[in-house]
Amino acid sequence: MTVEAPTGRVAEIVGRIVEAHRGSRGPLLPILHAVQAELGHVPPSVVPLLAERLNLSRAEVHGVVTFYRDFRAAPPGRVTVRVCRAEACQAVGGQALLEHAVASLGVERGETTPDGAVTLDEVFCLGNCALGPAVQVGDRLHGRVTPARLDALIGQCR
Ligand code: FES
Repeated sequence: MTVEAPTGRVAEIVGRIVEAHRGSRGPLLPILHAVQAELGHVPPSVVPLLAERLNLSRAEVHGVVTFYRDFRAAPPGRVTVRVCRAEACQAVGGQALLEHAVASLGVERGETTPDGAVTLDEVFCLGNCALGPAVQVGDRLHGRVTPARLDALIGQCR
């Protein structure tokens, strides 16, 4: 599949970010983080542009984008729900809670519901280990989240 380089606003933003990192060593990762911070995701169309500007192959850039789960190819939903998968939360039902979220929302980790309301994600420790299972909904942290409470929190996002 051929992906054309972006034009217009995306190209302008990516160009500005690349310029800001000119001369820095190993700039690809910080550039990708900056692109995601500004656009909310890393569109596949920026891969050829970054490859050209950084003198890398498209495969190299694509490999980095897809290796790190932090980078999303599509815009996130209006709210992101992050379920903690680190050890302390796993010990008190974090995995079951995540599986409940997958079933309840009908999307896998990293995906967004078709209505664009919720992106489901996993996270490895929210710093709320004593109150697991921990979940972050948007900017708010919640502790001792049960499946029923998670459903209620998700319901408030819609
Ligand atoms: S292990 Fe879940 S918040 Fe730290």
